[in-house]
Amino acid sequence: MRKKIVAGNWKMNKTLQEGVALATELKEMLEAEKPNCEVVICTPFIHLATVAELTKDSVIAVGAENCADKASGAYTGEVSAAMVKSTGAEYVILGHSERREYYRETPEILKAKVDLALENGLKIIFCIGESLDEREKGVQETVCRTELEGSVFHLTPEQWKQIVIAYEPIWAIGTGKTASAEQAEEIHAFIRKCVAEVYGAEVAEETSILYGGSCKASNAPELFAKPDIDGGLIGGASLKAPDFKGIIDAWKK
Ligand code: 13P
Repeated sequence: MRKKIVAGNWKMNKTLQEGVALATELKEMLEAEKPNCEVVICTPFIHLATVAELTKDSVIAVGAENCADKASGAYTGEVSAAMVKSTGAEYVILGHSERREYYRETPEILKAKVDLALENGLKIIFCIGESLDEREKGVQETVCRTELEGSVFHLTPEQWKQIVIAYEPIWAIGTGKTASAEQAEEIHAFIRKCVAEVYGAEVAEETSILYGGSCKASNAPELFAKPDIDGGLIGGASLKAPDFKGIIDAWKK
């Protein structure tokens, strides 16, 4: 059985103190009521070590939102995969549309990041998804397949076990406009088919594919009920513990 996961992506939000308070509140909530899925919080770099320490003996795993495409050296302001790993983080988000768009991360750069993250023992939440324009043109499947081919389909089947895919239609991110459960299921099933073509049906069955884009407690149950949706990657609704917990609870319905 593949893993069910609810992962938060804090993006560029929360001071260190606010982040610690949020992680503490969530930890206490999940101690009081055990989750029915894996819970991950992906935080800005500066929070990682503190939040990883704070959640060490809890059900919460911690991840970064990015890592460098170089191993080490004179790259002012960058944070390497090895540094992320040394904080106690287990995951890293790569390929987020905000990084692709605002920081010009190309498939080649992302491929280098993917390889370094895996070399350093991190699990990867790899994001793919089409823009509104691409959805209107009906090319969402090609976009998703091309993004997978460009940065992760070179991995060995063994390496692939460390990959979680997040389908995040760009038009649904932070817009309040969620893909319908049917729309999301359709593309999740397509993504699983692409994985099966490269790695075989058994590996594809084991691959967790998360949905991201205006996912909240009110729509999560319907989305998570679909056979190919294995959880969510949550932005805005991961910034308040009760909201995030509400999504985690969708796995209990
Ligand atoms: P929202 O949940 O705020 O739409 O963000 C989704 C996202 O980009 C998660 O990575």
